[in-house]
Amino acid sequence: MHKDLISIKDLSGQDLHAIFSLTDTLKHEPQKFAHRLQGKTLALVFEKPSNRTYVSFQVGMYQLGGNSIYLGPEHIKLGVRETIHDAARTLSRYVDAIVLRTFAHQVVLDMAKYAEVPVINGLSDLLHPCQGLTDIYTIKERLGRTKGVTLAYIGDGNNVCHSLLHGCAKTGVNLHVATPKGYEPDAKIVQESLHFARSTGAKIKLFHDPKKAALGADVLYTDVWASMGQEKEAEKRKKTFKEFQINKKLLEATGKRTMIMHCLPAHREEEITGEAIDSANSIVFDQAENRLHVQKAVLITLMRDKAL
Ligand code: CP
Ligand code: NVA
Repeated sequence: MHKDLISIKDLSGQDLHAIFSLTDTLKHEPQKFAHRLQGKTLALVFEKPSNRTYVSFQVGMYQLGGNSIYLGPEHIKLGVRETIHDAARTLSRYVDAIVLRTFAHQVVLDMAKYAEVPVINGLSDLLHPCQGLTDIYTIKERLGRTKGVTLAYIGDGNNVCHSLLHGCAKTGVNLHVATPKGYEPDAKIVQESLHFARSTGAKIKLFHDPKKAALGADVLYTDVWASMGQEKEAEKRKKTFKEFQINKKLLEATGKRTMIMHCLPAHREEEITGEAIDSANSIVFDQAENRLHVQKAVLITLMRDKAL
């Protein structure tokens, strides 16, 4: 495994298997790991808001016997008060790992380059690997397999969609992505995913019609239409994405019993109806819970050399 978790693209099949199997143990026998990261400190450098990522990393460190420090937008002021280089090298003298949530993906790459300790991408404008890993783990946990499962992602070709592309391609999940024209996922990430899919058999297809994408799906997945940093486009996007909503009709269009996933936060009655998110098909809160277990496995794996 690499020093950092920047992208699912960097994880081998063996890495994924190891993380998921450690997650299983952490979820079902957490007491075994109560002191695993004793004396370790995690820095949470967040330039955007968060509930799940922030709380699950902080609680995860606490449950593993370690500490965490929250550094919000007013603290370090990366690239403004000091260079990323200097901030990364300084933090490396105090903490044992860094979670970074930021805007430009290059900031995560630079932090990882200059930090001597592991850097975990807690979401950038391009990728959300902790979410993607959790989503695949959740599918595997629910259905007992990943190969041959079909997931339909309905909405914006954004960071969450990109990490799902990598995650599905690497684990054999067939992925249908339905977006409005002009909001398709990044072409390079699609190409990378098609490449990974060759060895796992995952079928990856892009659509502009949500109903066509939903047909035969075991899982329907969506995310907000306007991501953090796109607030000014929100009104325009509401019109463009109107048909890209998970609702009862779309659920029926799958033609089978389908689970509903959402990375959260959700904008009810926009990308998903309240009825859908609260329905028996929805597993969104189990998915949110799994962020904690999967990230604990990531923390132990990345800090392993120093932790044991
Ligand atoms: N899904 C997710 O990352 O949620 P937060 O933005 O609340 O961390
Ligand atoms: N695409 C969303 C995900 C939030 C977890 C965003 O970047 O705001």
